[in-house]
Amino acid sequence: MTDSMTITRPDDWHLHLRDGAAMASVARHTAERFARAIIMPNLKPPVTTTAQALAYRQRILDALPDDTGFEPLMTLYLTDNTEPAEIARACESGKVMAVKYYPAGATTNSDAGVSRIENTYATLDAMAEAGVPLLVHGEVVDGDVDVFDREAAFIDHVLLPLTRRFERLKIVFEHITTSQAVDFVLDASERVAATITPQHLLLNRNALFSGGLRPHHYCLPVLKRERHRQALLDVAISGSPKFFLGTDSAPHARAAKQSACGCAGIYSAHAAIELYAEIFDQAGALDQLEGFASHHGPDFYGLPRNSGTLTLRREEWQAPASYDFGDDTVVPLRAGQSLHWRIQA
Ligand code: NCD
Ligand code: ZN
Repeated sequence: MTDSMTITRPDDWHLHLRDGAAMASVARHTAERFARAIIMPNLKPPVTTTAQALAYRQRILDALPDDTGFEPLMTLYLTDNTEPAEIARACESGKVMAVKYYPAGATTNSDAGVSRIENTYATLDAMAEAGVPLLVHGEVVDGDVDVFDREAAFIDHVLLPLTRRFERLKIVFEHITTSQAVDFVLDASERVAATITPQHLLLNRNALFSGGLRPHHYCLPVLKRERHRQALLDVAISGSPKFFLGTDSAPHARAAKQSACGCAGIYSAHAAIELYAEIFDQAGALDQLEGFASHHGPDFYGLPRNSGTLTLRREEWQAPASYDFGDDTVVPLRAGQSLHWRIQA
C-alpha cells in the first residue's frame, strides 16, 4: 500500500474564486495545493473584457501572501456581444487563457451569457484562429428538458454541431457528469477535452437526498445516477489525456445554500487534491493521479508542466464544519467528516 506520494505540482482547470472579502478567505486553499488555476469569470458583473480580467487577476494576487507563486489563469465571459478584437487583446495580454461559454440562465451568474451560439460565430472563428480554448458549461436551458437530461441534450443540440462547424476550435467540456459526455469526448478530435470534479467522481444523485435534502451537495450540472459516476471514474483513471482535473469549487455563503431557494455550487478547494487522491486510491489507480492532475491539463492548453512537486500522505483528518467566507461562512464538501489523504506543508 502506498502511504505517501510525490507528484508534479497539480493545477485546477476550473475554479470559482469570487471576489473581495469572500475571495480573500478562500483563495489560499487553492494556492496551497495548486500552482495554477483557470479562474471562472462569472462575477457580478461578469468579467467580459481583458482589462477587467487583468484587474481581477491583480485582486487575486493581492489577496494571497507574496510567496505562494500561484498563477491565476484568467478567462473571459462570452456574451452575444463579445467582439473578435477582444480575443486579440486577450492574446496580447499573455494572462487570459480561455473564454467561458455559459448558455444564458444555465447556472449561477449566467444571465449575461450567450442567448444563441450563432451570435458568437465571428468571435469563435477568431478563437479558433488564435488557439484560444472555449470552455463550455454544457447544459441546455430549456425548462421543458428534464434537469437530469440537460447535459445529454446539449451534446446533441449544441456541441456536436459546434465541433463540426469549428474543426480547429479547442473546446473543454467543463465538469462533465454523464456517460454520454464521456463518449462524446472520446469520439471527438484531440481538440476536445473535459474536466471532471471531485463531487461527480465521489457521489451520485442519492447524495442529494440522503436522510433529507442536502443543499451542500447541490451543484450544476446536478449529480447523476451511479452508472454515470462509474463512467466518469473509469475514464478519469484510464490515462486518457483528454480528461483532467477541474474542481468547479464554487463557494457560496451558508445562508445562500441553506435557503428556500438554495443556490448551486459545492466548495471543495479546502481538500481538492486530497479528495482526488482518495478517489484514485479507492479505484486502485493512484499511479494515474499525476497524469490527470498535473500533466493532461497543461498539455491540452499548450502550457509547460509545473516544475515543482506536491507530496500527499495517507493520514486521517477532519474537515472543519465551516470556513470563514467574508462576513459569512461556507460549508465545505465533507464538512465535519474524515478525509484520508493529507498534503505535506
Ligand atoms: C457555479 C457557481 O456557483 O459559480 N455553480 C455550480 O453549481 N457549479 C457555476 C457553474 O460552474 O455552473
Ligand atoms: Zn463552474
